[in-house]
Amino acid sequence: MNLSVQLAPKHHRGLLLTNPVMTASGTFGYGTEYSHMFDIQKLGAIVCKGTTLEPRDGNPQPRLAETACGLLNSIGLQNIGIKALIKEKAPVWASWKVPVIVNIAGETIDDYAQLAGKLDGVAGISGIEVNISCPNIKAGGAEFGANPESAARVTAAVKAATSLPVLVKLTPNTSDIAGIAIAVAGAGADAISLINTLKGIAIDITRRRPLLGSITGGLSGPAIKPVALYMVYEVAGVVDLPVIGCGGITTASDAIEFIMAGASAIQVGTASLTNPGAPLDVLEGIEQFMKKEGVNKLTDLIGAARH
Ligand SMILES: Cc1cc2nc3c(=O)[nH]c(=O)nc-3n(C[C@H](O)[C@H](O)[C@H](O)COP(=O)(O)O)c2cc1C
Repeated sequence: MNLSVQLAPKHHRGLLLTNPVMTASGTFGYGTEYSHMFDIQKLGAIVCKGTTLEPRDGNPQPRLAETACGLLNSIGLQNIGIKALIKEKAPVWASWKVPVIVNIAGETIDDYAQLAGKLDGVAGISGIEVNISCPNIKAGGAEFGANPESAARVTAAVKAATSLPVLVKLTPNTSDIAGIAIAVAGAGADAISLINTLKGIAIDITRRRPLLGSITGGLSGPAIKPVALYMVYEVAGVVDLPVIGCGGITTASDAIEFIMAGASAIQVGTASLTNPGAPLDVLEGIEQFMKKEGVNKLTDLIGAARH
């Protein structure tokens, strides 16, 4: 069976994955944390924690709250910063078979361009995922992803600063997901990832205070799957680029739904927090489904529910 997918068909080098199962940024660390738990080299790609120019401590605690079938987080992009990532993580990734994609976030368009420039040509890095969708930081992040013009400006700046394939990750916190996807595609994105978390709040009724230290958080997990699936379906219908589906994917059948809706690849996020082996379980389940259904090429399933 052939599970390979090309995530950057318009890019001169391309970004070929041996299978469509990726990890979602922020839920799989730098990959190294999980490498002793299962053979992470079997995955299609690993997307690392959102990375900024300077290291960040993130938001005040508490930063996690469980909800019905979901999770609210307000991590606030806690990360080691680009310098340490290049010095300490990239050399490890360079020895891996699985491609690693670095998720980047900034407060200004120039931050994004600088980050992309610093990653260009670094061994061990196969692509960049531009996070214009983080709901948990005061400046930048989701602000850029909320309207087509700023989303396009960030995309163009990153493309100009790097020769790596560029994935742009969209926020669901908008009324115009199709318009934003079209703008990002027009600005040169190689692929579009969606969705990031949905903005939410939980209240601690005994303290009569918001539960999260930073009041608002981002909702993820099975609770958001139908929303994510709808947005993937919508975006795959308006852009001529690979779409990467993310949001509540916990099982292989979830993943196959996204692929049939038009996703070329999928990301497993919150599911890894309760079952670290979830990405591999999803991959094995996709293989079993293909075998059972007599499907030889994964690409035959992409968009199958659209015809
Ligand atoms: C704890 C946590 C941290 C996250 N950190 C990031 C991040 O740094 N960058 C990013 O683009 N998305 C981040 N996300 C969003 C996920 O990558 C994903 O888009 C979202 O959680 C929806 O997928 P899921 O329901 O499978 O988790 C984070 C999500 C969680 C739960």
